[in-house]
Amino acid sequence: MSRRLAVLASGRGSNLQAIIEAIADGRLDASIAIVVANQAGAAALDRAAAAGVQTRYLNPKDFSGRDEFDLAMATALTASRVDLVCLAGYMRLVGAPLLEAFPSRILNIHPSLLPAFPGLEAPRQALAHGVRISGATVHFATKELDGGPIVLQSAVPVLADDTVDTLSARILVEEHRIYPEAIQIVLDGDWSIVGRRVVLTRR
Ligand code: GRF
Repeated sequence: MSRRLAVLASGRGSNLQAIIEAIADGRLDASIAIVVANQAGAAALDRAAAAGVQTRYLNPKDFSGRDEFDLAMATALTASRVDLVCLAGYMRLVGAPLLEAFPSRILNIHPSLLPAFPGLEAPRQALAHGVRISGATVHFATKELDGGPIVLQSAVPVLADDTVDTLSARILVEEHRIYPEAIQIVLDGDWSIVGRRVVLTRR
């Protein structure tokens, strides 16, 4: 039976689009049960609606605190019978109520080779640091920002004339490639987490 994903987004939604297309192409054996945004008017909601996917907007201001918001999110995702939660440009720390509702079942995509440059504006950080290689990382979400066990990474060169925009665009191509692949790996289930490593078995 096809596994059910939730995608959580805050903005543009290009990674959501990559997941939608991977499912349509048969590269990813799953369905998207719901897309939830914490920003009104997020383009991700339009992309989901265009693909016929159920959407929901949760306004953080409607909740008395971080935990209350995450509890409402967990309730919505559980009601949608979600197997795996995919953060895709979700600009919010995931708190305990959500992590506990989906243990080792929340993935995130980040535009750097973690553990280098966690947090906001990773391509800008990479350029400012002067690294020659950056890339993209798919990892499990934990309470540590951008710090959980790594599923897949892809490296991209940093070119001498790169700007934040050109480097971000080159990294984004890799994000769109590895996120669906990482989701399939996690859904296939031939892995375990040992310490902070994701150990793949039978591959
Ligand atoms: C991506 O670069 C992702 O790695 C980061 O936020 C950006 C979201 O882009 N977490 P999009 O909304 O998927 O287009």
